[in-house]
Amino acid sequence: MKVLVIGGGGREHAICVALSKSPKVDHIWCAPGNGGIASVAECIDLKATDIEGVVAFAKANKPDLVMVAPDDPLALGMVDALEEAGMRAFGPRKNAAVIEGSKSFAKDLMQKYHIPTAGYAVFENSADAIAYIKAQGAPIVVKADGLALGKGVTVAETEEEAIDAVKDAIDGGAFGGAGARVVIEEFLTGPEVSVLAFVDGKTLKTMPSAQDHKRVYDHDKGPNTGGMGAFSPSRFYTEEIAAQCMETIFKPTVEAMAKEGRPFKGVLYFGLMLTPKGPKVIEYNARFGDPETQAVLSRLDSDLYDIFNAVIDEKLDEIDIKWSDSAACCVCMASGGYPKAYEKGKKIDGLDAVRDSFVYHAGTKLQNGDLVTSGGRVLGVTAVAPTLDEAIVKAYADVKKIHFDGAHYRTDIGVKP
Ligand code: AMP
Ligand code: GLY
Repeated sequence: MKVLVIGGGGREHAICVALSKSPKVDHIWCAPGNGGIASVAECIDLKATDIEGVVAFAKANKPDLVMVAPDDPLALGMVDALEEAGMRAFGPRKNAAVIEGSKSFAKDLMQKYHIPTAGYAVFENSADAIAYIKAQGAPIVVKADGLALGKGVTVAETEEEAIDAVKDAIDGGAFGGAGARVVIEEFLTGPEVSVLAFVDGKTLKTMPSAQDHKRVYDHDKGPNTGGMGAFSPSRFYTEEIAAQCMETIFKPTVEAMAKEGRPFKGVLYFGLMLTPKGPKVIEYNARFGDPETQAVLSRLDSDLYDIFNAVIDEKLDEIDIKWSDSAACCVCMASGGYPKAYEKGKKIDGLDAVRDSFVYHAGTKLQNGDLVTSGGRVLGVTAVAPTLDEAIVKAYADVKKIHFDGAHYRTDIGVKP
């Protein structure tokens, strides 16, 4: 079977590697892919958001399945376009991807269906938003409504900070159209856990829990990034909490989407906060998380191609998905300067010396036979071991063998609760 994967980061590398282990899959294309993905898939020079180009490629090459991984093509309706062209596509349609693409949609859905989340209000006018902030007081959270590369959220310690965030988003256009509307939320506390689930419209099967590290520096200092590392499982996500989340959050969300006429098919990502008042939803993503996927799929013992087909055919209830009992730790190595401006084209050395980890490539490319950096997050060095402590030690032992000019990484992935 032939599979086309859309995307070109560490997450897509992990998806391609997992698919390549399926005895049924004999060819993988990845658009656009990257320097590491090129070792398991044929990289196609198409942007992940190029719906017309992807549909034309699929019509010409007839993949048996197309997997759309990133948020923007999902929000733009790539799955709908592929289905209209007669393809089997994995991922939510546009009307379901909105659960990530619009935070106000997600909040209104949770309110309507009594799914626990932070209290909130939605504004399109900065004067009203500012009055609300003054009435509520700080700390308080301001979120741009649309997709903003994980950077549209301000957890404000003071009213002034929250007001500045509102002005930037609504009046300053800091997030373009994504910030013309803002959601203002109650500040919650507690450990954060990410739970990803395969969903076929009605049945949901969760993957092992994970946690990512969004801030750029150790001890959660510095600006937010796309994610500097992840580990799985979370220490806080007990069986009891999992059962509670299943009844109060996971099943109600899938049922709510079906009732709204927006059945969700694909991977639904629940960003949760385990508050003193029970687990609450911080965010939904309509896709695999990055870098959580690198940690979580490293623990998959079943055939990912079979799982994708079961989702497409709405037969998830008929398959058994097996995960290893191990733990996984993924440490991201980033370009100097990231998440601000950074240079590209730095030669990457030392990958041959890596022993105990798998290195997922996020921003790399091959240039005249050399592997060089081509993005902010460059590599996700991922180790699997019987315990999380062992996985952390193994991953860092390998990180230290890899070099490129300006490389930086957090030294506390998996350590912080
Ligand atoms: P998001 O992009 O919605 O996941 O938000 C980014 C980060 O902001 C989250 O991982 C949390 O650490 C923090 N955050 C978001 N919403 C809240 C909230 N209501 N209370 C406290 N922290 C929050
Ligand atoms: N790591 C969080 C995300 O993929 O949105």
